[in-house]
Amino acid sequence: MALRHFLTLMDLSPDELIQVLDRAITLKKEHKQGNIYEPLKNRVLALIFDKSSTRTRVSFESGMAQFGGSSLFLSPRDTQLGRGEPIEDSAKVLSRMVDAVTIRTFEHAKLVRFADNSSVPVINALTDDFHPCQLLADMQTYREHRGSIEGKKVVWVGDGNNMCNSFINAAALLNFELVVTSPEGYEPSAELIEQHKQHVHIVRDPVKATHNADLVVTDVWASMGQEQEQQERAKVFSPYQVSEELMSHAHSDALFMHCLPAHRGEEISENMLEHESSVVWDEAENRLHAQKALLEFLLCNA
Ligand code: CP
Ligand code: NVA
Repeated sequence: MALRHFLTLMDLSPDELIQVLDRAITLKKEHKQGNIYEPLKNRVLALIFDKSSTRTRVSFESGMAQFGGSSLFLSPRDTQLGRGEPIEDSAKVLSRMVDAVTIRTFEHAKLVRFADNSSVPVINALTDDFHPCQLLADMQTYREHRGSIEGKKVVWVGDGNNMCNSFINAAALLNFELVVTSPEGYEPSAELIEQHKQHVHIVRDPVKATHNADLVVTDVWASMGQEQEQQERAKVFSPYQVSEELMSHAHSDALFMHCLPAHRGEEISENMLEHESSVVWDEAENRLHAQKALLEFLLCNA
């Protein structure tokens, strides 16, 4: 297979995405049975993180260890990249030494520049615009609990952020309806909505939007890098809290997801993570299994 990157979900075809999701479900079962499987023995994954992380970092590092390989965590505090060495030069050098690179950064364009100069697969571990690895885990989680998501109604509540943009891509690839309910001025990328208008539309009122939903999803009101907007956003977003009351407008068997970390009392009510519809802990665990399936797809099909 030619060199493949995973910068957005659209780097996979619909069939490839389903293949990765099903493989993640199988790898999870194998892992729980204690079966050792080491397809990445002696392979190295570099992790370049310009933003904080718990789930993404730990799931990639654990996944590489379970696959028999290893990982290198590279903080901008310690590398020359952090001191201003050009991205292009860093990409050329690192990709001569490691087998894949995972990057969490601010501008999506930086990730693209790195990938354009890398001779090994580059994986998006979150940018300001997209978080495709989280969507692999979310779509795996839906599949495990409810089967195919095709034709279902998914409601995104809150900020039209990186996660929301990735949900738009998922809607296009897996053919579901995505209703986005956000305050004015905080909608997802207009270009992305236009591109996928058969699958996504905006409904301003969160109660109307949630009517008959099969899946309700939210995320923080201020993402990493927007900390100074926190107070202003808390005011604008307050009608968009996901609560037991809002969930009561969804289907009785609807699921609730949040990529975490969550802020109780802000984008979710105090007990929402423990609500009967919540699958947030499975979502978090599935980061591990879904990314192992992705690593296998990118590194073992060559
Ligand atoms: N959901 C997610 O990406 O979590 P982290 O920021 O902890 O990696
Ligand atoms: N939208 C959030 C997701 C965190 C996993 C952020 O970018 O901070």
